[in-house]
Amino acid sequence: MAKIYDHTHQKDIPTESIAAYLAEHGVHYEFWPVESAPEALRRQDSLTPAEQQAILGAFGASIARISKERGYISHDLIVLNPNSTANLEELLKNFERTHIHTEDEVRFIVDGEGIFTLTRNGDTFSVTVTAGDLISVPEGTPHYFTLTDVRNVKAVRLFQTKEGWVAIYQDEEPVQA
Ligand SMILES: [Fe+2]
Repeated sequence: MAKIYDHTHQKDIPTESIAAYLAEHGVHYEFWPVESAPEALRRQDSLTPAEQQAILGAFGASIARISKERGYISHDLIVLNPNSTANLEELLKNFERTHIHTEDEVRFIVDGEGIFTLTRNGDTFSVTVTAGDLISVPEGTPHYFTLTDVRNVKAVRLFQTKEGWVAIYQDEEPVQA
């Protein structure tokens, strides 16, 4: 279950208010139990393409449903941890730069955890997502992502266009390809 810290008002959002808080800020949120995918696969640091497909298949009905409802046309699985990701810390430096996208950034957390920090309706807030959380960062919303000290996340990414996800950075630093 997600946790939220509101930086603008310097307060944690109580668990029972999280769904309402996200809805008020225009952020689509769902919770899908992860137990439909085998635990051993969810916990593995590295996954073969077949194992990735097995995880995606385990959530196939939910992925098909939300894709139809919200217009997603493709999806994949991203795995970030020090044992399977070359240059993880370098990669994170880019993720931690505030940017926007021209489509929603949709992530369903299968394992591990991460933090999305968004600015919406004049409020800046951090959403810590863990296994089972699905969050959609709306198009055009300034945001950045980072891992927690757990340094591990597996997430299904869902896309609205074939081009998928292009980051438009909000600072003046040169953009790495
Ligand atoms: Fe993003």
